[in-house]
Amino acid sequence: MNQSSISFPCPTARLRRHPAPRLGALAGAVLFALSGAPVSGAPEDGPDMARLITENFDFAARQYGVLLEAMEKTPDQFPRTFEEGNLLTSKLKTWTVGFFPGSLWLIREGTGDAKWDGPADRWTRRLDGLRHHTGTHDLGFILHCAYGTGLRAARGAVDGEAYRAVLLDGARALASRFNPAVGAIRSWDREMWAFPVIIDNMMNLELLCRASAAGGDPRYREIAIAHAHKTLAHHFRADGSSYHLVTYNPVSGAPELKRTWQGYGSESAWARGQAWALYGCTMMWRETRNPLYLDQAKRTAEFIVTHARLPEDKVPYWDFDAPDIPRAPRDSSAAAIMASAFIELADHVEPFFARRYAGTARRQLVSLSSPAYRSKLGENGGFLLMHGTGHHPHGIEVDQPLSYGDYYFLEALLRYRARLEKTR
Ligand code: GLY
Repeated sequence: MNQSSISFPCPTARLRRHPAPRLGALAGAVLFALSGAPVSGAPEDGPDMARLITENFDFAARQYGVLLEAMEKTPDQFPRTFEEGNLLTSKLKTWTVGFFPGSLWLIREGTGDAKWDGPADRWTRRLDGLRHHTGTHDLGFILHCAYGTGLRAARGAVDGEAYRAVLLDGARALASRFNPAVGAIRSWDREMWAFPVIIDNMMNLELLCRASAAGGDPRYREIAIAHAHKTLAHHFRADGSSYHLVTYNPVSGAPELKRTWQGYGSESAWARGQAWALYGCTMMWRETRNPLYLDQAKRTAEFIVTHARLPEDKVPYWDFDAPDIPRAPRDSSAAAIMASAFIELADHVEPFFARRYAGTARRQLVSLSSPAYRSKLGENGGFLLMHGTGHHPHGIEVDQPLSYGDYYFLEALLRYRARLEKTR
């Protein structure tokens, strides 16, 4: 298929019952099917949530106005966190750089205010140079969260063909990291491991699936499926939780080590890793309808929601097995990612579980919107959420805002709003 006749919609659009908006002049040839799944387990008090969501987007628009103004002074950098009164930024190749442009698009979508088109497009296009970057497995995070979200949110206000071309190039670059002998995409290029794969890498598969669906090489989707199958086989424990890191023999493809990098210990359940697993498996179910992915998503969901150390406010400690619970830092980013995934998963499970997952997401969003987690206007460096934990073992970004926490918080709010609209 000609690249000029493809569309690249993203999850929130597909959660709606109504057809996704047309995505630019040439984008009409392929509009992807909506999930079509019956809505079950309707949220109990929709009106309150509707107000809460609107209020959050009003706040986000004002707060990201602060962040945007600060960031315009360093346009070659991207916001990372706020530490001891300083806004800390990342350079172009960091895995987090897509989240700021993506959040600008989500604010555009959530507020309906076209004034965000310009800044969001400008910040997105600053990532153009990464489209052929083969040195990271995180191109899915980087490109899909910016350009993919932009394609949906901009409603034709951007050069959709240019966005789609970047996404297709990015998928090709990401696919180059696939090793057929292992059946997986290599995560890191660090020499200490022959072929490391982290659970986070499930998130990057969305770019590959979307690229094939949008007329790119069908092999991208096959690679995503192979990677997801390999992950299902070796990353998950009997209790539904996930290891962070599995290393493979690059020749035989056999698993060698099961470890952590950002969690408390090899056998612990690092909270954000569980969030990536939940989101990644739910996304792969959406993309393939293979029940194995839905089954694993439910197992991971059950691990999370029934865990004795998931706090009452449903914002997890940074690791479910942190030794100093209840004094251990929370990870608001994990809660935001989980909330977004739970809302999607709730549409695909039996009513009891739908209520359970939508209810957990609702609780997470209410918690994250409260003064306990959400910043005051003009504070927190312009970020929305406080109390994220980036890399506790290395003492990096502990109890701080995180750009991806904000992104998935906004995405979850949009998904919850779409859910409310469906159940009306
Ligand atoms: N993907 C890296 C992280 O979750 O911190």
